[in-house]
Amino acid sequence: MRTPDYTPLLNELADEHHRRSPRSATIHKEACRHLIDGGSHSIRLLEPFPPRITAAHGGWIDDEDGHHILDLWQGHMANVLGHNPEVVTSELAQAFDDGFGTQNGMADALQAELAELVCRLTGADRIRLTTSGSLATMYAVLLARSFTGRAVVMKAGGGWHGAQPMLLKGVAFRDDGVGFDGVDSQGLPSALTDRIVVTSYNDCQRLVDDFDKFGDELACLILEPMLGAGGTIAASTEYLRLARELCSRHGALLLFDEMITGFRFHAGGLGALHRVTPDLAIYGKALGGGMPVAAVAGRADVMAEAGRETGHRVAFSGGTYSAHPASMLAAKTFLLHLSAHEDEIYPRLGRLGAAMRAAFESAFAEAGISARCTGDIPELDCGSSMVTVHFPHDEAVKLDTPETVFDPLLCDIDLREKVLGLALLVEDVHLLLAHGAASTAHTDNDVDFLTDACRRAAERIAQHCRLDACTTN
Ligand SMILES: Cc1ncc(COP(=O)(O)O)c(C=O)c1O
Repeated sequence: MRTPDYTPLLNELADEHHRRSPRSATIHKEACRHLIDGGSHSIRLLEPFPPRITAAHGGWIDDEDGHHILDLWQGHMANVLGHNPEVVTSELAQAFDDGFGTQNGMADALQAELAELVCRLTGADRIRLTTSGSLATMYAVLLARSFTGRAVVMKAGGGWHGAQPMLLKGVAFRDDGVGFDGVDSQGLPSALTDRIVVTSYNDCQRLVDDFDKFGDELACLILEPMLGAGGTIAASTEYLRLARELCSRHGALLLFDEMITGFRFHAGGLGALHRVTPDLAIYGKALGGGMPVAAVAGRADVMAEAGRETGHRVAFSGGTYSAHPASMLAAKTFLLHLSAHEDEIYPRLGRLGAAMRAAFESAFAEAGISARCTGDIPELDCGSSMVTVHFPHDEAVKLDTPETVFDPLLCDIDLREKVLGLALLVEDVHLLLAHGAASTAHTDNDVDFLTDACRRAAERIAQHCRLDACTTN
């Protein structure tokens, strides 16, 4: 299947974006003088320039040009209750008023209360807190290596575990035959990257084969229970249970990276809904209630590698802003709220997520474009707020592995990753790389707004494809 040349459409969309958003365009130009690419997180820097945000409430954001934008990105999917939920902001405002909130660099009761809460909700014995998922996955790998005395780590192709040296391999798909076997950054010594084995997500036979080859050298296998950046693909229960069994049999640790999935499907980790218990889990995003908090949580004997009892064998230490007071307060408040209102929050998220996925699919179908969304977890009845929109070339393509959704012969990647975001932004809808999530702050009216925006975007894309077909025939 030939992919259309989207260049004329992208140029047209970029011109419209410039016309509608002159202030964001100017700010971006200025920003590029001092900030690499005009910002500090590549994925946020939509091309040709991102909307510059002035406020964010619930399901919506406002930008410098006065646009009121429906937001499905929701803070890298951290915002389960939408932007700036009152339950958190009122606590923070009160604390700041009372002289508690900015950095103090001391121990306090709050972090102990948060730790108790996270352990209770996730089943972990002990945790340690840090400020980002990248740091947390890095520390988790160090803990696993130290505990097992082994060096090799296994991850799945398409798995993103943050910008840290231990796992920067097999994230991006390369269609030159390398697939998910490439190293994702310069600057990493081969002594590190040679110790990363990349297996295939949701491929049980390949997992068995890889454990046959590497199992006895493995410190750990790290998996997202649902791939986020790798296509929003749910792991099958069979795959996760097999991973558990193989790790136990070979003396390797099982790590679940629950950065996206933790507290998004219920007030705990997604692994628990599959009835699979990892040795360590990594939480972040939703954990912080909109503030920077991440944690490694798990078995007491493994976590002990970082503590006094083992002479701090692992330097899971430092972090000027670790367990920052305002972050601790936000996290504790947020988790208490999620667990107290679990029966309302998660069914609502699931219903809105399903409605959003249906909105994308039906609007594109009306325009004659086949769009299919991943994000649901067919085997579980927890519902799902997650969505990535894919454009498979063929109805028969199964979207259950990252190898499929990143193969340009099977899916239209340019439409998903370059066109859709900009085509929707000029309709006042924001998501990045066709990827986002519902929050409880979204409403049925928002789903209607999304449907109408998708209809207009889809019709425009379809028109372009018809023109492209005429000019190439
Ligand atoms: C599954 C997963 N792990 C780790 C990370 C890294 O977290 P952070 O961006 O907080 O460093 C992310 C971030 O998107 C993620 O999605």
